[in-house]
Parts: sequence; structure tokens; C-alpha cells
Amino acid sequence: LASPLLDRHQRPLRDLRISVTDRCNFRCSYCMPKDVFNKDYPYLPHSALLSFEEITRLATQFLRLGVRKIRLTGGEPLLRKNIEQLIAQLARLRTNDGKVPDLTLTTNGSLLARKARALREAGLSRVTVSLDSLNDDIFRGMNDMDFPVAEVLAGIEAANRAGFEHIKVNMVVKRGTNDHEILPMARHFRGTGITLRFIEYMDVGSTNGWRMDEVLPSDDVIRLLQDEFPLVPLAASSQGETAKRWGYADASGAHDPSQGEVGVISSVTHAFCGDCNRARLSTEGQLYLCLFAQQGYDLRSLLRGGANDDDIAAAVSQIWNGRSDRYSELRASLPADTGAGTRRVEMSYIGG
Ligand code: GTP
Ligand code: 5AD
Ligand code: SF4
Ligand code: SF4
Repeated sequence: LASPLLDRHQRPLRDLRISVTDRCNFRCSYCMPKDVFNKDYPYLPHSALLSFEEITRLATQFLRLGVRKIRLTGGEPLLRKNIEQLIAQLARLRTNDGKVPDLTLTTNGSLLARKARALREAGLSRVTVSLDSLNDDIFRGMNDMDFPVAEVLAGIEAANRAGFEHIKVNMVVKRGTNDHEILPMARHFRGTGITLRFIEYMDVGSTNGWRMDEVLPSDDVIRLLQDEFPLVPLAASSQGETAKRWGYADASGAHDPSQGEVGVISSVTHAFCGDCNRARLSTEGQLYLCLFAQQGYDLRSLLRGGANDDDIAAAVSQIWNGRSDRYSELRASLPADTGAGTRRVEMSYIGG
């Protein structure tokens, strides 16, 4: 296990994203549209979910194989009961070079005001909050649950006070829905130490009714920002980073660290599969190697069938070795999703 585990495109496994619930208290139309995710939707029963012990056992093997960062996602991860206990268990693990793993979580922020401190105390290093608008009407419409933006802002405040190493805010931009909120969002977070990232609306899953004309290309986002705030490109902070970073410039045109930075995540117009080092573990223990995969690998059966740690590590190595996914790079040349048989997995199931 000394040499790094590589897939067929020589990409190492570095980032494990664990979905801890397929449920959410929001109904963002780009992720869990209300007409599909209604009271008849077949959410997973409790017995199907990986237990905290099972998740920790799997995470231990992933770290042994080279994972450096663990992200908890969902659905909405803070809906999972006693999530801070899982965080405490994961925070005790170490990477295969003896370091503390980067342990982070993506949340819609609705429960953060209540939970930020306990999460930090349990050992969470960072947190990323999804926030699509500062305008209360637009925000209530986009989460489609009439949830007020003030509570999410209070959650971000609480995270700030709790002392996380870094807070990021993710904004999915939909042309015609919240693109006029780009500048207000940038003005709001500039100089706060919080990194705002603009995400291109993606064709993930099979239910969100994605259309290319609702994607605002990141190049347009940067142009819009540049008109008000001069920006300078920044180097990637790690290999395989999803976001392209831009720093706010000072009068001389150099990056002014006190004003912070923004990022753009351009899965549609500038695919970043080339050094994709991410694997995803679904709530019920299916391993997915691409956000756009149609199928996963059943690790729960291995766990519950009595496999030992070496068996699990060997199975994951073999799966990663065979990986060749690069959906976003191929998007334009792939046949359209024709429905049955080609259903892509939902993001609420495998996590962002
Ligand atoms: P950090 O920068 O380390 O905090 O993490 P990250 O860049 O992985 O960020 P985050 O988990 O916040 O991901 C941001 C968004 O990028 C996700 O919600 C997705 O919309 C998108 N994204 C993340 N990973 C992938 C990926 O592998 N493929 C594609 N196409 N999109 C991704
Ligand atoms: N396009 C882009 N990002 C999405 N997310 C969910 N659905 C989509 C989509 N269709 C991401 C957002 C959100 C996170 C939980 O998942 O970044 O913040
Ligand atoms: Fe919930 Fe996040 Fe999906 Fe919105 S994007 S429905 S908050 S999981
Ligand atoms: Fe990785 Fe798939 Fe996203 Fe490409 S589309 S960056 S292969 S998860």
C-alpha cells in the first residue's frame, strides 16, 4: 500500500464524500424538486443506512488508501441524529502519513445556528454553507419551503463564532432566477474571511429538468464581478480542486488578502475531470466514483457479510484501479438521457 492508489487515468484517491442521509428539509428545484421528492418518494428506511460504526470502519480503510479529506453531505447532513458523534469518531482517525484528515461538511445552514458549536467541539475542521441568495423572497422561492434567509445567515454567524478553520459559501447560479444576486453576494462576503463560490447549475440526477440556457457560464460571472471589483487569478490550493480561485485586488493590482477571495466551479463550461480525486459513499453504503454515475458498488454487503479490513481495502483498491469516469469532459458527446436504464443517481442520494 506504499505507492498511491491510481485509477486508469492516473488519478489518486484523495477525497471521500459521505452522504449520511438522503433526506432534506429544503426542496431546491435543481436538486430535490417538490413534484418528485414528495410524501410518496421512497426514502431509505433506517435499516438501510450505514451505522456510524460502519461509516467509521469504511473511512478508516479509505484513509489507509490515501484519502486526505472527508466531507459529510446528504441530503442535509445535520438532519442525521447525533451527527456530532460520527464527527467525533472520524476526527480520531489519521491519514496514512499520520496527519489529521481535513474533516468538513456541506449544509444548507438551516440548523447551523443551533449546532455549530457542538460540531466544532466534536472535531469538524471546516464547514461549507449553501446559500443561493441574500434576498429573502428569492431565497424562500429557491429552497421552495419558504425558509427565511435570516436563519441561514444566523447559522453562518454561529459558525464564525464557533471558530472553524475556514467557512465557504456555495451559490448555485441559475440564469434568470438568482444571477442578479451575484454582486450582492460578493459585496456581502468580501472582506469577511468567508470564501464565496459560484457553482454552475449542473445536469446532475434525472429529475431537475436541467436546461443549458439556465446555466450562467463562470466566465460571465467573473466578467460581472470584474466590473465592480478587480480580481486576480490565484493558484490552486490543492491538486484536483473543483474551484478556480480569484483574489480581490488592491490598488496596485496585487491580491489583497484582507479582502479575501471568490471561486467558480465550472463543471459545465470548463470540466475538471482531469485530476478528479473524489469518491462518494451513499447513505446505504454504495460507492460511486462519479457524480454522474448510473451505478455504484455495494460496500454494505461486504461489511455486513463479514469481510475483514484487508478485504475491504482490497475491494476499494480494485474498484478505484478500474475507474475511468470523466462525465463532464464527455458531456457534449454523450447520448441524451433516454430514461429507463440510463437513470443517473440523484445528488441528494450520493451527496454533493
Ligand atoms: P473544498 O474546496 O475542499 O471545500 O471542497 P470542494 O471544492 O469539493 O467543494 P464542495 O464540496 O463545496 O463542492 C462544491 C460543489 O462543486 C458541489 O456541490 C458540486 O456542485 C460541485 N462538485 C464537487 N465535486 C464535483 C465533482 O467531482 N464533479 C462535478 N461535476 N461537480 C462537483
Ligand atoms: N447543480 C449544481 N450544484 C448542485 N448542488 C445540488 N444540485 C446541484 C445542481 N443541479 C450542490 C450545491 C449545493 C450542494 C448541496 O449541492 O452546491 O450547495
Ligand atoms: Fe437540500 Fe442541499 Fe439539495 Fe437544496 S441542494 S435540496 S438544501 S440537499
Ligand atoms: Fe469527477 Fe465525474 Fe465530476 Fe468529472 S464529472 S469531476 S469524473 S465526479
